[in-house]
Amino acid sequence: PPKAPVYRIGFSQCSTSGPWRQAMQSGMERELSFHPEVQFRITDAHDNSQVQQEQIRELVRGGLDLLIVSPYEAGPVTPAVEEAYKQGVPVVLLDRRTTSPNYSAYVGGNNVEVGQTAARYAARLLQQHGNVVEILGTPGSSATAERHQGFVRGLVAYPGLHLVGQVTGDWKEKTLKPALTKLLQAHPEVSLVFAHNDAMGRGAREVCQQLGISGRVRVIGVDGLSGQGEGIDLVQRNVLDASVLYSPGGEEAIRTALKILNRQPYNRESTLGTLVIDSTNVLTMQQQTEKMVSQQHDIERQQSLLQRLRATYASQQTVLYGLLAT
Ligand code: FRU
Repeated sequence: PPKAPVYRIGFSQCSTSGPWRQAMQSGMERELSFHPEVQFRITDAHDNSQVQQEQIRELVRGGLDLLIVSPYEAGPVTPAVEEAYKQGVPVVLLDRRTTSPNYSAYVGGNNVEVGQTAARYAARLLQQHGNVVEILGTPGSSATAERHQGFVRGLVAYPGLHLVGQVTGDWKEKTLKPALTKLLQAHPEVSLVFAHNDAMGRGAREVCQQLGISGRVRVIGVDGLSGQGEGIDLVQRNVLDASVLYSPGGEEAIRTALKILNRQPYNRESTLGTLVIDSTNVLTMQQQTEKMVSQQHDIERQQSLLQRLRATYASQQTVLYGLLAT
């Protein structure tokens, strides 16, 4: 039979650490397990745009049929992505964007909508009155700019809500703590914190506890991952009042990549849906993700069974050919 074409896909990941990025990569692996014709390479920029540019250039130099990128900071990573694109390498932007229109497809959540959803939910929690604080992700990440834009735009509809301060975290739990402590001391009347991800929401909750104001401060995060200490669990334990679901989209990125490579029609913007996870639906969400995890285990068991069968078949074939040869 004709051999399936071999595709080389490179994925420039801003960072491979943290459960959300890990979930993204597992999603990719899951989808890639159906495509043995794909050679997949992933690089880890350790949240450094300079490193990410170099890694993108190196991936392209090594020979690439398609590039997937999740840029750490939009501006600084753009030149390398543009170079790749202009050399004819299709580019799939995943979760975060560059500042350039030179890409083939974007896969990810609508981050403006994430911010707007948070604003709407904040208004509901506070009955449209109160002071709020925002904790931003890395300033140069497109997700930060878009979540902020959406949040501010969303607040416009509620004149009783006031954004009294901002803190920049770097998507991590700890960095924001000193600045948030100071801010909440200066504004003791704050009743809600919107953190651009759940990790920073967790950090914000700890700050509130240390200040003894946790009982009257609501915290909203983003991501809604399953797993211990992650969004769904945090909502269930009332560490977060809500988390806006933001899917990592690993499977979808690979699917889009393959459509591009196989010259099939694809969406230039593949927007993954979002929803608010709060006390009303957290149990359902948890049960659903648990079910998915167990189904994933079943798939893996079936795959290893298949592999064993294939190995047995191959060795039996060897025996058979041996017999025929004699
Ligand atoms: C992980 C992360 C997520 C966040 C996303 C935004 O690196 O910080 O928590 O939703 O990136 O791009």
